[in-house]
Amino acid sequence: MRVAVIGCGAIAGTHVAALQAAGQRICALCDIDREKAVALAAKFGLDVPVYTGFEELLARERPEAVHICTPHVLHAPMCCAALERNIHVLCEKPLCISLGQLSDVLCAVHGSHATLGVCLQNRYEPNMLRLRETAAAAGVAGGMGIVAWKRDADYYRSGAWRGRRDTEGGGVMINQALHTLDLLQWICGMPVSVTAHLANDHLPGVIEVEDTATALFELPGGARFCFYATTAAGTDFPAQVQLSTADHRTLYADCSLLTEQGRLVAARRLSDPAVGKREWGTGHRELVTDFYRCLDAHRPFPIDAEEGGKVVRLILGMYASQGNRIPVPELPGAGAQTH
Ligand SMILES: NC(=O)c1ccc[n+]([C@@H]2O[C@H](COP(=O)([O-])OP(=O)(O)OC[C@H]3O[C@@H](n4cnc5c(N)ncnc54)[C@H](O)[C@@H]3O)[C@@H](O)[C@H]2O)c1
Repeated sequence: MRVAVIGCGAIAGTHVAALQAAGQRICALCDIDREKAVALAAKFGLDVPVYTGFEELLARERPEAVHICTPHVLHAPMCCAALERNIHVLCEKPLCISLGQLSDVLCAVHGSHATLGVCLQNRYEPNMLRLRETAAAAGVAGGMGIVAWKRDADYYRSGAWRGRRDTEGGGVMINQALHTLDLLQWICGMPVSVTAHLANDHLPGVIEVEDTATALFELPGGARFCFYATTAAGTDFPAQVQLSTADHRTLYADCSLLTEQGRLVAARRLSDPAVGKREWGTGHRELVTDFYRCLDAHRPFPIDAEEGGKVVRLILGMYASQGNRIPVPELPGAGAQTH
C-alpha cells in the first residue's frame, strides 16, 4: 500500500521502521518543518517527495493510507480530511483532545469507505493480553495504574505545542499516561464515574497543564481502579498495572508479569529497540502489521475511533472532575455540537 507519514518528529521514525517491517511502501513525507522530513528520509534511505502542506500531499500523492504523527490538536482535523478522501488513517494517540473533535471523527468515519485505527500499541504486549484474559475469566476485584516519569523544562522546549492546553490538550494524562489508563480500562472494563485531582507540582510557570494526577474510576458492577501519574519524577520508572481478581493479584511492570509472591509468570523479550522506546511500549511493529493485515483482509481493525475514544473520554472526565465524582462523558453522537 502507498503510505504517507505526516509529522516527522520524535515518533515518526518508529512508524517508518514499522511500515518497512510490514512491507508497506512509503510514498511521501510531510512536516511543516521541511528539514525534519528531509532528515527522516535520509535516515531511512527514502527517496520520496517531501511536503510542508498536508492538504497538498493528499491532493498530489493520493496515498492509500496516512500515519498521523503531528501535535495532538491536529489529529482529529487531519483524520477527518483523510477519511473524507477515503484514505485509510493510522492516528497516533490521543485520537483527539475534545468531545467535539471525537464527534467530528466519528462522523468522518461513518461517512467514509476508509478505515481509521488508533495507535495504542501497548494493547499488543503479550502480557497485557494475558492480564486481559485473566480479568475476563476470573472477574475484576480491583485495579491500579502508576506512571512516574521525568519530563523537565528542556523536554517542553523541544516542541512549542507541548505543555499547552490548546495544542497538547492537557499534560501527563493525555500524553504520557494515556497508554496505561487505556490498558486499565481495556483489562477491567469501561468505568462509569471518575473522581480526579490534578496538579502542576514541578513546572509551574513553564507548562499550563497538569504534571501530576490521581483518579478513582468506578466500574458498572461496583469494582474500581485507581490511577496515579506524574512527570515530576526524578527518573523514568517502568509503568505499572496491577489487577486483583477474587483469587489473586498480578503486577505488570517493565514488560513482565509478577504474582503477589514475586514469582515471574511471564516475560517478554523486547522487540528491536529501534522500533519504539522501552518506556513507550514496543508494540508499534505488531500494531502496524495488524493494521495492514486487517485492511488486506477487509477485516475491521480492533482499535477504531470508538475504542481509541474511550481513554480520551476518561481523561476528559478527569479534567472536568475537579475533585468531584462525575459520570464519565458519554460517547458523543457523530457530528454532535460539543465543541
Ligand atoms: N504511541 C506512542 O507511544 C507515542 C510516543 C511518542 C509520541 N507519540 C505521539 O506522536 C505524536 C507526535 O509526537 P512527537 O513526540 O513525535 O512530537 P514532535 O514534536 O517531535 O513531532 C511532531 C512533528 O509534527 C510536525 N508538525 C506540526 N504541525 C504540522 C502540520 N500542520 N503538518 C505537518 N507536520 C506538522 C512538527 O514540525 C514536528 O516535527 C503525538 O501525538 C504524541 O503523543 C506517541
